Amino acid sequence: MADKNTKGPKPGNLELERGISELRADIEIIEKNHSLYDEKNFSSRADVIDDLEFHIIERIDGFSQNLCHALELADLKRDAERIKLQLEKINIDLFGRLRAKIQMGGCRRAAFRDMIEEFVGDSLKESANQATIGYDNLDVFMDGLFPIATLPEETRAREPEMVFYQKTPARIIFELVDKANFSKGDVFYDLGSGLGQVGILVNLLSGFTTKGIEFEPAYCNYAKAYARQLNLPDVQFINADAREADYSDGTVFFMYTPFEGRMLDDVLKKLQIASKGREIWLFTYGPCSFQVGKQSWLKCEKPEEITIYGLAMFSNKIIK
Ligand SMILES: C[S@@+](CC[C@H](N)C(=O)[O-])C[C@H]1O[C@@H](n2cnc3c(N)ncnc32)[C@H](O)[C@@H]1O
Repeated sequence: MADKNTKGPKPGNLELERGISELRADIEIIEKNHSLYDEKNFSSRADVIDDLEFHIIERIDGFSQNLCHALELADLKRDAERIKLQLEKINIDLFGRLRAKIQMGGCRRAAFRDMIEEFVGDSLKESANQATIGYDNLDVFMDGLFPIATLPEETRAREPEMVFYQKTPARIIFELVDKANFSKGDVFYDLGSGLGQVGILVNLLSGFTTKGIEFEPAYCNYAKAYARQLNLPDVQFINADAREADYSDGTVFFMYTPFEGRMLDDVLKKLQIASKGREIWLFTYGPCSFQVGKQSWLKCEKPEEITIYGLAMFSNKIIK
């Protein structure tokens, strides 16, 4: 692929002509790559859509002040946009079909994982083999499968120690389900469940009952409506402050740093009391893992490996 740097001073004529021929070559390479039109090749298609949008079309726009090549640039832009739309249409059709299957009660547990592996298995393998930071093509796939039209507006003021909504990378949820080793009677809780993706995914992957506790009513209502729309009766969302919710049936808990400081200590105290005399597992992601690691009643699976970017796993089974 050609140099993707779209920034910098206004190009001279020679530089502009070279840029245009590089763009034309890039677009031709994409158009001739028939494998992108095979719906199974989701990751390559996602990379190319990203490339078209953020490098090729942006670069064309950057050149467009130059009137001598206006027609040529307009043609190139039309081609790039046409190909991008064709590739996006493949994804839209694919996601519509897969969502309908889920709504009909199909694609649960192993079948759901097989379906994901069929389309983004490469991403799953990659993130399992290396410490990935941020989001990847597995998230792009999940965003397409479970799209959020617009983030609901917050209706309640957050207290200073409450963390704003941000979703957990999907690979972390897959890792959690692999490590949780769910067994009969387990009930999973996401504390600070936002728009509900964690509970929905854990249920689809494991088949176990999941519950989300969310402070913001608009997020909670959104999550409830989504679970209903997907026909997932064992996915529940409760609009409550995590300091006041009832966890007495919970066995596996997750927190993507929903709160900090004193509030986190208060919720952990509540969890300690609620789990007295029975075994629970607590998974954490983000900076809260360090504070959870200081709890004497919880044992971390690998304390030396706690990082902001990885999943940490704790249990009370050794210290009761
Ligand atoms: C970092 S987001 C995580 C969202 C969700 N777990 C996910 O991964 O998609 C933190 C969420 O916790 C919620 N939250 C913050 N303080 C809370 C509290 N005291 N009780 C319940 N939810 C809370 C926020 O509204 C926000 O939606």
